[in-house]
Amino acid sequence: MAEERKEEDTVSYEIINRIAWVKFNRPEKRNCMSPKLNRQMLRVLEELEFDDNVGVLILTGEGTAWSAGMDLKEYFRETEALGLKGTRAAQREAYAWWKRLRWFQKPTIAMVNGWCFGGGYGPLYACDLAYAAEDAQFGLSEVNWGILPGGGATKVAFELMPFRKAMYHAMLGENLDGKGAAEAGLVNEALPADKLKARVTEIAEKLLEKNPWTLKATKDAMRRVGEMTYENAEDYLIRAQEALNFFDGEARKEGMRQFLDDKTYKPGLGTYDL
Ligand code: ACO
Repeated sequence: MAEERKEEDTVSYEIINRIAWVKFNRPEKRNCMSPKLNRQMLRVLEELEFDDNVGVLILTGEGTAWSAGMDLKEYFRETEALGLKGTRAAQREAYAWWKRLRWFQKPTIAMVNGWCFGGGYGPLYACDLAYAAEDAQFGLSEVNWGILPGGGATKVAFELMPFRKAMYHAMLGENLDGKGAAEAGLVNEALPADKLKARVTEIAEKLLEKNPWTLKATKDAMRRVGEMTYENAEDYLIRAQEALNFFDGEARKEGMRQFLDDKTYKPGLGTYDL
């Protein structure tokens, strides 16, 4: 039997031109999420979140998988053997890094290179944007082994997919390929595998040109308004903008100045010079 991977080796990352390329790194187990991987991923996110060398985070997988969901052996069987205490501890570790990623300070992109199952929908949804290889496979396979799509996966399908597609996806346990996932709303776009990295890099570079405070406020607002009435959303958005003015007040004045006075750019066609 192959030697077990050390906790610190379950996730890898490198920073290139202000883009942090973070990888699920258990290719021999199709990057399924074990407690070790979950703990390590939280450490990595903590390391990168306020690193000034990082402007965008991309989450991808080593080998043929993005993530084959929760580790049935290490996340379920072995923690259940410890009783409810073990189960809850494992859940807290997984949910902690997905939450950290959902509200990450920097823009995040899922680059889905291969298999993406069940629990993998947690980090998929946590990323602000998602791009997939056309031959990637997405599945709520839970029903195939006798559980419901937990750990947020049902909620993710409901949030991202049209209702009938979500219901079919969860009840039948059939996979969607990258194109199907894009049509269903799980990802922004599907591309031939050999074009995926270039496209994701291009998107990341566009994000790097934009005001980082504005991006954080925008992505948080998009997630928050879903559960608000129109009136509450309107009010929240005014307050969020005013908080942004307070925090980074010169940004919009500068944006207006370059358009109205300098005439160096048009907001309808591009970004002001930071
Ligand atoms: N949990 C535990 N071990 C896993 C998982 C998983 N989710 N996925 C893969 N592995 C292990 C396999 O047991 C195998 O281990 P071994 O080498 O010790 O035998 C190794 O990873 C390689 O997996 P294979 O099945 O041999 O790889 P293959 O490329 O043929 O198939 C596939 C890939 C389709 C992803 C398959 O591994 C699979 O069906 N995995 C389970 C997917 C799934 O349903 N995940 C759970 C979703 S529900 C949830 O997350 C709550």
